[in-house]
Amino acid sequence: MATPKVLLCFVLQLIFLLFVLHHPANAQGLKVGFYENTCPRVEHIVKEITDQTFSVAPTLASPLMRMHFHDCFVRGCEGSVLLNSPTNQSEKFAIPNLSLRGFQIIDKIKTALEKKCPGVVSCADILAIVARDAVVALQGPSWEVETGRRDGHVSNITEALFNLIPPFANITALKSSFASRGLSVKDLAVLSGGHTIGNSHCNAFTNRLYNFTGKGDTDPTLDSEYIAKLKKKCAPTDITTLVEMDPGSFKTFDVHYFTLVSKRRGLFQSDAALLDDSETRAYVLSHTTDAGRASFFKDFGVSMVNMGRIGVLTGSAGEIRKVCTKVN
Ligand code: HEM
Repeated sequence: MATPKVLLCFVLQLIFLLFVLHHPANAQGLKVGFYENTCPRVEHIVKEITDQTFSVAPTLASPLMRMHFHDCFVRGCEGSVLLNSPTNQSEKFAIPNLSLRGFQIIDKIKTALEKKCPGVVSCADILAIVARDAVVALQGPSWEVETGRRDGHVSNITEALFNLIPPFANITALKSSFASRGLSVKDLAVLSGGHTIGNSHCNAFTNRLYNFTGKGDTDPTLDSEYIAKLKKKCAPTDITTLVEMDPGSFKTFDVHYFTLVSKRRGLFQSDAALLDDSETRAYVLSHTTDAGRASFFKDFGVSMVNMGRIGVLTGSAGEIRKVCTKVN
């Protein structure tokens, strides 16, 4: 018969195992609740500032969400998009990043966190938490954000230019860009749904309206009525006007993006390209009504977690920046 001492030991081991399984660290060393002991109020502090920000400036939610994506696709999610450079040679000065906004909000959050838990929370983790809060603020899904990322030392304008996917990417380029970062074809379809919120500058798609193949033609894959509407908003050389990517509901995170794409009204060639692969096409077509909302919301959280794992620095790699715009 087991003695009470042995039994107690067994029960304690079981409790420990259950605890570990509940908050598993993934292969890269990230986990939900990484700051549980070192900065337990981190998510609360971030949310206070994002709530306050989005209540006065709701249009900052979409670019802040996009910032996490642009961080992760260049050198991994390690905060390189935030770094300044005296000669304007860091990632944020690359053309695709010039339309990012909200850097000052990340700085504000970092300042607040440094007061409460100095030297603990990375800028890369702040981006991941803010991305989730931005989606929630626009009535989208919530998910548990894995943390434990550390910040990188390098940020290079050319790397950003080559690694961020251009709006004219075709399905082959999109799939290969995602695959090279460990993301699936499903992640591609799901994360493209991020275009349910926010705006685009005209120049990201005017080639589809005025000069698709260099002969003054239009993109045959774009709905012709939609082309006429877009032409009214964007002159051929317009680089300043903003257009809603999901007209009518660009301030709400919903499934409507997939309806648009299915109707050949996705704004970018990269959106339209989702119809060119059987798997992404099937995902689009099965999410064209509100009935697909719950499944898209669940998938989006999963894919954002997957994206947040790209190329992370953990353990003793990298550093925890004191200020997000510069290395220590
Ligand atoms: C799949 C390849 C993708 C391409 C080619 C692409 C391209 C673009 C472009 C060209 C813009 C317009 C920028 C502007 O002119 O201001 C944009 C906006 C945006 N993208 Fe993407 N994107 C992609 C994937 C993603 C992903 C994965 C996310 C997030 C999960 C995302 C989130 C956003 C958001 C929220 C905006 C609106 C930003 C704002 O309102 O300022 N995109 N994207």
